[in-house]
Amino acid sequence: MNILEAMEQRKSVRSYRKEEVEERIITQLRDSLSQSRSSMAKDNIRFEVITGYSKEAKTGFLYGIGKIHAPAMIVGIYEEEEDLVEIGFCLEKEVLYLVKEGYGTCFLGTYDENTLKSCCKLTEKEHIGIVLVFGKPNEESRFMNGAFRNLAGSTKRKSYQEILLNAKEYDEHDAIVNVVKHAIMAPSGNNVQPVRVSVQGNKAVFYLKDSHCLIDLGIFLAHFYLCCLDIYDNVEITKIKQESVNGMEPMVMISWQERKTCH
Ligand SMILES: Cc1cc2nc3c(=O)[nH]c(=O)nc-3n(C[C@H](O)[C@H](O)[C@H](O)COP(=O)(O)O)c2cc1C
Repeated sequence: MNILEAMEQRKSVRSYRKEEVEERIITQLRDSLSQSRSSMAKDNIRFEVITGYSKEAKTGFLYGIGKIHAPAMIVGIYEEEEDLVEIGFCLEKEVLYLVKEGYGTCFLGTYDENTLKSCCKLTEKEHIGIVLVFGKPNEESRFMNGAFRNLAGSTKRKSYQEILLNAKEYDEHDAIVNVVKHAIMAPSGNNVQPVRVSVQGNKAVFYLKDSHCLIDLGIFLAHFYLCCLDIYDNVEITKIKQESVNGMEPMVMISWQERKTCH
């Protein structure tokens, strides 16, 4: 499965088999999360990979009424709010790795904060940004999972014409439109899809409609960036500070160069 197929197949999974996650997967996640940082990071974030069913963590949905029991989770921890973008970016890369390995995942903003705080030994400056649960999907609950996604409106996505602000300048079959379409597949809290993008030549500027959705921005950027790596050269990601446009804050820029074809 390539990275684009992983994006196409990923969906939030809320029911898991009672089965430990393979040790090699946990090792790979720990290694990758301790190293991979983009140029957006200030490097005061960290990740805790926790294994074993942690019922006390009360991870769930509908404000915790529905509990999700997964065999493992990653807790994203930050000191400064702006680093939530990096947390989303790093974790979504692992989501796609897990999908390729046959695992299901779900980002969860609902959990027992005190339990996780002591489990992750948070310092005074640290906060929990998000929890990502994962494990082998419980195929017997596939129908229920599908029904929940339908009910919660999780299956719907905005059109690329709404997300790509200057869509009129592009043809539906342009490579960059395909990149945008794959970024639109990214998960977001309550499926609000708060990121907008404008593409000029070989660079894209990303805007956020709601400044509270920094993790969603990071997740969207991970899809966009990984798609670009697949088809372009010299892909770079940079934080930017510019005037707001129509009430939306420009946050990040991704640039690239066309790949030279060998004859
Ligand atoms: C930051 C963030 C927080 C989320 N919090 C929850 C949550 O607390 N409970 C839940 O069931 N799903 C949660 N989700 C999953 C979203 O509801 C889901 O990604 C979205 O509806 C799109 O569905 P899909 O992931 O199946 O494509 C969260 C997703 C993100 C990115």
